[in-house]
Amino acid sequence: MYRILLLCLLISGTLHAQKVIIPGSVSEKKIQLLIKKMSIQEKVSLLHANSKFYVSGIPRLGIPEWALSDGPHGVRAEINRHDWGYSGWTTDSATCFPPGTALAASWNPKLAFERGIVLGEEARFRKKDVLLGPGINIIRSPLCGRNFEYLSEDPFLIAAMTVPYIKALQSKDVAASVKHYLANNEEDNRVKVDVTMSERALHEIYLPGFKAAIEEGGALTVMAAYNKFRGDWCSESEYLDRQILRKELGFNGVLMTDWNAAHSTVKAALAGLDLEMGTDIKDYNEWYFADPLIQAVKEGKVPMSVVDEKVSNVLRVMMKTKMLGDKTRTQGSMNTPEHQKAAYNSAAEAVVLLQNQDKLLPLDFSKLKSITVIGDNATRKHTSGGLSSEIKPLYEVTPLEALTKKFGNNVKINFVQGYKKQSAFKEGSNIGQSDTKKVDWKLIDEAVEAAKKSDVAIIFGGLNHDFDTESFDKQDMKLPYGQETLIAEVAKVNPRTIVVIIAGSPLELSGVVYRVPSILWAWYGGMEAGNAVTDVLSGIVNPSGKMPFTLPVVLEQSPAHALGNYPGRDLKVNYEEGILVGYRWFDTKKIVPQFPFGYGLSYTTFELSGMGTDKAVYGKEDVVHVKFTIKNSGPCFGAEVVQLYMSQPVCSVMRPAKELKGFEKVFLQPGETKTLDIPVKVADLAFYDEIRKGWTVEPGDFLFHLGTSSGDIRQTVKIAVR
Ligand code: BGC
Repeated sequence: MYRILLLCLLISGTLHAQKVIIPGSVSEKKIQLLIKKMSIQEKVSLLHANSKFYVSGIPRLGIPEWALSDGPHGVRAEINRHDWGYSGWTTDSATCFPPGTALAASWNPKLAFERGIVLGEEARFRKKDVLLGPGINIIRSPLCGRNFEYLSEDPFLIAAMTVPYIKALQSKDVAASVKHYLANNEEDNRVKVDVTMSERALHEIYLPGFKAAIEEGGALTVMAAYNKFRGDWCSESEYLDRQILRKELGFNGVLMTDWNAAHSTVKAALAGLDLEMGTDIKDYNEWYFADPLIQAVKEGKVPMSVVDEKVSNVLRVMMKTKMLGDKTRTQGSMNTPEHQKAAYNSAAEAVVLLQNQDKLLPLDFSKLKSITVIGDNATRKHTSGGLSSEIKPLYEVTPLEALTKKFGNNVKINFVQGYKKQSAFKEGSNIGQSDTKKVDWKLIDEAVEAAKKSDVAIIFGGLNHDFDTESFDKQDMKLPYGQETLIAEVAKVNPRTIVVIIAGSPLELSGVVYRVPSILWAWYGGMEAGNAVTDVLSGIVNPSGKMPFTLPVVLEQSPAHALGNYPGRDLKVNYEEGILVGYRWFDTKKIVPQFPFGYGLSYTTFELSGMGTDKAVYGKEDVVHVKFTIKNSGPCFGAEVVQLYMSQPVCSVMRPAKELKGFEKVFLQPGETKTLDIPVKVADLAFYDEIRKGWTVEPGDFLFHLGTSSGDIRQTVKIAVR
């Protein structure tokens, strides 16, 4: 069903897409008629919350209350109206997907679409109208606490996953809220920090995800970030909100604040903010967009037309999500087998095989007598962590549970703790991270003893949501709790040691790669985490995930840290690395990371050949068709993500060594061959010209690089643009 829907929506490409407002259209007329009937008090009641996640309706005009909910990878459990406690419902356990980085690691836009459908159905079942996601900020620093929720360091990959997610979600009559607009790239001081970046970095790196979400995905709402941008709060930045969002991107939906991120009435109103959420003032009438807005209108500081524009935006979103009396609105469903299958698919396709010496993986469990499973992450459930993206899942399968259920009858499975989570995350401080370096030799000795006697040792390590969390950044990029020592000691006694990393942001692996033969990166896998990783370990699923971010050898290799621009100084941070974010930096500066962007192995092998383009010389309006053949030359069914990068060696401005311009995830049986075509518009080869204040394709030679990661380019072809 999903596939057919996907096809229809992707082909039509226009569902809910932002369109120029046609003033005389039936819906716009209806909006204007409704506005005419409203008092100023009624208008303003639509522009601020009446509780944590609801906005008042106007029953006499048939306008219902508006229900918003987190979050990006599952519909969050019901929160009390007037405080942050959970309501304790028994009907709000939800399907929980792996978070954003895992979605991006699948490099499969169809999975983003499936996720959108499920989230839409579950949101509607819970009678929600707006889902607060996806979170698509650029992964700029390996330390950002929210990297796990975001998608990638690369804007093209972000856009490719975001658009189908939003289209699918909104096809279920639920508005997406793409967040956090803009540059919420660090969590420490997120509510104070002032970000400065070049126009080029803004347009080439930080904006494209939002642009695609709005122009192609048709996102109906946008959430402004907590931080400042060039001196103005994002919720009241005339440049970001009026000039770029409304004028350049043509956004005519609702721009809301993040929770408790409103700072003014007049400035925010004039800049284009529509909806105030989460302000920490008890009396809702005292919020910036409540009585003070009425007062500002009376005093002539905010014209009524500005208020009407905001009300129009709200009503437009309500209309597009069929809230205004449309009987065909999606009713939704919860926790269906299809939903759970989608969560499983997403977790299984996300797993990245980083290393596999001597083909230790997949494990043939029929030939094993005993395995030792080690590590806190073998038994830890993660879905209820991370703060606003936390989910109350219907269930969550841990790796140990899945391994025991699937193979426990034939293989002796020994669990030993190995390392322990050393202190709990305490809200209001990141003290949880300060005491995490202790090496617990007693636990290590136990693990070593058990591993000695087993055919294979599997260490489930990595992080948890004390580190990958909203509000705080990680303090470093190291494996906590003495895991490196644990891994080294276990590997000494059992050469068949596999490390499975559970984490959503970059980690230093130099202490692991030389010690063990096999490493899997399994992310936080959502409710199906254990099943997915077990199926990859056993070869039922052939890993096909690829890293959505670069894994540096050490933190200091990565651009913001190399240049000393994280976290900034005196609450100001300048993104001095400009467009050289992620692999753009590593490749341009010729720095070899631990594992490059786009990297991931398979249990089979693939051959790329026959790369070519349909022409040698192109005009600026043309589309380049990059053709190639791919063959599964190995022993089993599998998928390769073929990545197409571009460079322009000679140009009047600096261009990165590589920029992702296309990719295709190809599934092939052993021996099977496919010839494929990745189209790239010449217009998309442009750079943002700061002098002309626009996109420019500078004529000359361009190189297309075809490969299986940014570090493994197999073929290159030159074209010219005249
Ligand atoms: C987060 C948002 C979230 C909101 C509501 C904020 O703290 O930054 O992403 O949607 O809370 O829970």
